[in-house]
Amino acid sequence: MADKPTKGLADVVAASTALSDIDGKAGRLFYRGYDIHDLAGRTTFEETAHLLQHGSLPSRDQLAAYGAELVRGRALGGLVASNIPEIAAKQEPMEALRTLVSLAGADDPDKDSNAADANLRKAARLTAQQPLLVALYHAARTGATIPDPDPELSIAANFLLQITGRTPSQREVEIFDTCLVLHADHTMNASTFAARVCAATLSDMHSAIVAAIGTLKGPLHGGANEQVMRTLEAIDPSGVAQTVRDKLAAGEKIMGFGHRVYKTEDPRATHLRKMSRELGEASGDDTYYRMSKEMEEVVFAEKGLYPNVDFYAATVYHYLGIPTDLFTPVFSVSRMSGWTAHVIEQHADNRLIRPDSEYIGERDQKWKPIDER
Ligand code: COA
Repeated sequence: MADKPTKGLADVVAASTALSDIDGKAGRLFYRGYDIHDLAGRTTFEETAHLLQHGSLPSRDQLAAYGAELVRGRALGGLVASNIPEIAAKQEPMEALRTLVSLAGADDPDKDSNAADANLRKAARLTAQQPLLVALYHAARTGATIPDPDPELSIAANFLLQITGRTPSQREVEIFDTCLVLHADHTMNASTFAARVCAATLSDMHSAIVAAIGTLKGPLHGGANEQVMRTLEAIDPSGVAQTVRDKLAAGEKIMGFGHRVYKTEDPRATHLRKMSRELGEASGDDTYYRMSKEMEEVVFAEKGLYPNVDFYAATVYHYLGIPTDLFTPVFSVSRMSGWTAHVIEQHADNRLIRPDSEYIGERDQKWKPIDER
């Protein structure tokens, strides 16, 4: 008979990883041993993806080679490209990405191999294609024509240009790039766990990423950033404190607060709060930033909860001109680097992930023929 389960697998160590580490008590996050505070604002998303997928921060030559691989890998196959208009008309953004990544798997030249070199090539293609899929989806549903990605520009710069239709300032690109770095990996979060469970059956990388995208979509995980913005938009700026207290009294969760692992400030929120403030002030209307700050103070006073990564990411994306329903897709653009690295790691030292369950149903039932039931 199995032991009692730990609800939600809290504190259960489900895998070994050399990719990221969290000290929940001290509020620290590391990617391959580098403190997130050292990486954020100093290391680009492309360097971070290389760190996660290849194991080291790249030299200039390695970065040039990886950058060229990303540019080549961005090219979409016919199956995915031809289906974007119909998918954009019928599916919400995260549903669409789930479908499009699945189609991209059919187009991928390495689709039948889980070998380490094939996985690295697929990781680069998936990382390069994800921002383009979001941009093409958005263009298809709005009827906009977007420029092709510029091979001289970073993923962050190309994405902002394609989504907003205007050339972003250098500071906006830096801020968005930092957001991508901050979201790249986060130990055994729900979507990464889903990807690893799938990969551990020796299924392929695209299947694992489809599982991860479906998991990120939920409001208790990546979907929270969109819900934060919807909450801010629905509240009267003069009634923030009362609204929060009413929601808590009604037993509602406040999106963007609380975390399974951090018992103090999420180190990613430290950077996102500053960037939200900077962008809010630069925009000439920092109402949403100020509302967020008030919300943070009330939630802490009432529940002792800290904001997580999704809370200030919402207003940062808003000030950057990204549509609210693309916030969670933006999370996937970044997390693709971590998911793919986890699939590579899982395949490199695999064992089927198959936990036990506690049976809570009826026992000793007496079977009856159908006419006697
Ligand atoms: N608002 C209000 N109360 C919250 C809360 C929130 N955002 N997050 C946690 N709590 C409360 C719960 O109601 C619960 O209280 P109780 O013990 O009185 O019932 C307690 O804190 C523990 O919460 P629980 O949901 O069991 O913690 P968890 O570890 O299972 O969940 C999250 C972690 C992140 C899913 C949870 O904090 C949450 O739902 N947050 C909002 C969604 C979100 O921002 N997700 C993004 C995560 S990065």
